[in-house]
Order: sequence, then C-alpha cells, then structure tokens
Amino acid sequence: MPKYPMLNYIGNKDKIAEWICSNIPNNVGVFFDAFSGGCSVSYAAKQKGYKVISNDIMMVNYNIANALIENARDTLSKEDLELIFSGIPKEGFMYHNYANKLYFPEECKELDLYVENINKLSNKYKKSLATTLLRRAMIRKMPYSRFTIPWEKIIQLRDEEYSYKMYKRKRAYHNKSFRYHMEKEVIDYNDAVFDNLESCKAYNFDIFDAIDKINADLIYLDPPYTGTMNNYFGFYGAIDEMLSKKKLAPFNHNFVDKKDALDLFDALFSKLGKYKYWMLSYNNSSYPSKEQLISLISKYSDNLQIIEKKHNYQITGKQNKTKNVEYLFIAESKG
Ligand SMILES: C[S@@+](CC[C@H](N)C(=O)[O-])C[C@H]1O[C@@H](n2cnc3c(N)ncnc32)[C@H](O)[C@@H]1O
Repeated sequence: MPKYPMLNYIGNKDKIAEWICSNIPNNVGVFFDAFSGGCSVSYAAKQKGYKVISNDIMMVNYNIANALIENARDTLSKEDLELIFSGIPKEGFMYHNYANKLYFPEECKELDLYVENINKLSNKYKKSLATTLLRRAMIRKMPYSRFTIPWEKIIQLRDEEYSYKMYKRKRAYHNKSFRYHMEKEVIDYNDAVFDNLESCKAYNFDIFDAIDKINADLIYLDPPYTGTMNNYFGFYGAIDEMLSKKKLAPFNHNFVDKKDALDLFDALFSKLGKYKYWMLSYNNSSYPSKEQLISLISKYSDNLQIIEKKHNYQITGKQNKTKNVEYLFIAESKG
C-alpha cells in the first residue's frame, strides 16, 4: 500500500483522513476535495479508489495535488536529481527578496538555482513532485515550520547551542542543506506516487471559481478554521512567491476575518446545490459555532448529520492542550 509522505501541513487531517473517508456515502464515485492543502484527505480518498479532484488556491498546494493525486506514475530518477542540483547557486528572486529574512543569502541562492532547474525537468508531474520535495526541505529548515517567524527569532532558533540551552533540542535539521533533506526524503516521495486507475485531477482555483467549474458527487470542505491560527498566505505565501518569482498580495475569501466568516460560509453553502453530498470539517474552538453552522446549512439541506471525534492539532512550538472536538457535517442537497 503506498504511504502518504511527511509533508507537515498546518491544519492537516493526516490522523483523521481515514475516519473522514469512512463516512463518504455509498453511492459516491467522484470526490472533490475543495480546500485540499497538504492533500491528506485527497490521498486517503485516492487510496480508497475514488476519482479524486483536488483544489487549492495556493500554487504550492496545487503542486502537492499534482504530484500525489493527479500524478499516477512519474517519479524522480537519479538523473532528475543530478539535474536539480547541477550548476552554481545564483542571485534570483529569493536572494533579492528573502536573504536574511527567511534564509541565509547562500541558501537563497541555492533555492533560486533549484527552482530554475526544476523547471527543466521533462514533464509537469516531475516538476510538481520536485517542487513538493523542495517545499518539504524548506519547511524542515524553517523554525516552527511556517514563514511568519521574524528573522531575529529564526537566527536564534537555528543557533544549535542556544536551542539546546533553552529547549534541550539542537534542531540540527534546520542547518542541514536543502539538498540533504531532498535526498533524504526522495524515496518516500517517489513511493507515494501511485495509480488508483481513476483519472484524478488537481486544480488551482479560488473556491468560488472551483465550484463553478468542477462537477462531482460529493464536495469535501476543509476551509481555514476562522478564529484559529489560519493565515495560510502568511504560512506558505513565500513559496508561492518563489514559484511565481514575484511578490504577491494575500488572496481573498481566506476565512481569516471573523466579521466576514458567516457571510462567506453562507455564500459558499448557497452554491453547493450542484453536488448531491457535501461534507464539512470544523471544530468546537472555531467560529461560527456548530449551532450557527447547522442553521446555515439547513437553509440548503433537509438531511444533515454531524459526527464528532476528539482530535488535537499539533502546533509546532507549543502543545495545543485544549480539548478539541472535530466535527464532520454530512449534508445532502435539497432535491
Ligand atoms: C485547513 S487547510 C486544508 C488542509 C487539508 N485538508 C490537509 O489535510 O492538508 C485549508 C486550505 O484552504 C486553502 N484555501 C484558503 N482559502 C481558499 C480559497 N478561497 N479557495 C481555495 N482554497 C483556499 C488554504 O490554502 C489551505 O490549504
């Protein structure tokens, strides 16, 4: 059985993806994961044999879906890796914009070289798989695994003596090279590629465009949970900028602002009539509340079931001690 590789995606459903997929109604063939992120749920659904359609607004996440969901057979060979690491580090977008902000200058130059070389790989699946592997290496080297940490703090946490003195952990992996991490994990990433004999697809749309364009039996919604740490552009936007080689503005419909959340959910639910089933993940420490969501969903569905499960999110750097209950709303559209 192919295994989902280590991605370290904030808000992932790795530990409950099986549980979510075991609640997919019987007569579903096409499963649409509309906020696919690190693709843990898409991957579990692909393993179960569904035709999976994954979508996420961020380019980096589109690459994850393209590499692990749509891709059925392309892996990275020894020659591909040689190509990725060939040449001399260069002063490109990362060097000019993020040297001494996210990584040291020499590291930024390596990133600029690898991005350029990845673009020379022979097809789009290899490119996405290599990009997903490079993402993983970037995350391993970044304290707290997100790109919202001030440079002074990054330097401090990458100081192995300091880290050991303060936290009894050297965090030596932050100071290994990108290449070291990529070579270490390439086998796991290659092994994760598989064919489930369905033509699975990856898209890179805003949720509202995705709904217009994508047909399926069931839409699965795992949006950023409003009121929790959920600024995905902040977490990973620097990777999208690296891939597009330009500074980007944060995207809209991001579920960050509490005052827009109810309207945004209502607008979203009002568009879901084309799907027979919808499933929504949410939890008891986010906004809107379970009761508010029930009243919104009930405008568009006469058949709503809610399943609950204890699930604590692991937040790097601090343990989330709150008692979290994860909800799975399963609704059937009004006929
Ligand atoms: C909670 S995460 C999904 C996690 C995923 N289920 C997993 O297991 O890795 C929410 C995702 O929604 C995406 N997102 C946020 N706003 C979006 C929008 N307007 N359209 C599409 N995707 C969006 C974010 O980029 C993020 O990846």
